[in-house]
Amino acid sequence: MLVRNVSEMKSIVKGLKKEGMTIGFVPTMGYLHEGHISLIKCSKKENDITVVSIFVNPIQFGKNEDLDKYPRDLDRDLKICKKEGVDYVFHPSYEEMYPEGYSTYVITEGLTDKLCGAFRPGHFKGVTTVVTKLFNIIQPDKAYFGKKDYQQYKVIERMVKDLNMDVQIIGCPIIREKDGLAMSSRNNYLSPEERKSALSLSKALFRAKELFEKGETDVEKLKGEMRKIILSQPEVKEIQYIEIIHPETLESKKVAEKGDIIALAVFVGDTRLIDNIQL
Ligand code: PAF
Repeated sequence: MLVRNVSEMKSIVKGLKKEGMTIGFVPTMGYLHEGHISLIKCSKKENDITVVSIFVNPIQFGKNEDLDKYPRDLDRDLKICKKEGVDYVFHPSYEEMYPEGYSTYVITEGLTDKLCGAFRPGHFKGVTTVVTKLFNIIQPDKAYFGKKDYQQYKVIERMVKDLNMDVQIIGCPIIREKDGLAMSSRNNYLSPEERKSALSLSKALFRAKELFEKGETDVEKLKGEMRKIILSQPEVKEIQYIEIIHPETLESKKVAEKGDIIALAVFVGDTRLIDNIQL
């Protein structure tokens, strides 16, 4: 069932809670792919009711980012949700979420300074604000986030802990295409040549993990190997960052340890792609 209003969604949630139903929530910006579907499947398994939100949240995009061209196809998304047995799709308008006079934001400090946060000022403020609003509206017992956006997953976890929110955050594994490319709505922007070059991201991550497993723990050496693989590709425009980080603090490491995350952001053509792997 498609719900467009905050008030309608809230009254549905009230009814569900009264009946003692547990609610699983999958927040998305739409243009659903296998990654989202894996989150939906997880939620379906663990909750009585599954709610998916589809909202391209303008306040988490920078001025020169891809808000206007972000892919949208509600009909296709609704078909996918129906096929997967989603109970409610919440698809509010901008005005519904940010009515005139809107002035309140949620900020998680520290974890948001680094990695993507360092290159996308204001991005996480937009994410934590919209996710807080969505949690308040949908009041989920569990909410599902893909680990491709590892920093986002950790920031949300921190926010929920710090603000005593009554929701369990579940991080779900990255879903990849057969050839290794991490699933993302932004893959849609890639030309065939760019897509070929984009494969170097996962290739570099897998190679670094292999080297680590053979005993290499020097972060500079691992990063150097990765840079070589990625920069050998003609459509790669810029490596924004490659970092090996502690899985909880997200602090950059000099010596890699088991459990650390290798995270990267790379421009392939004009498309900014992120990916990561856990050692
Ligand atoms: O990961 C996303 O798609 C978005 O950042 C989210 C969590 C739906 C908030 O807009």
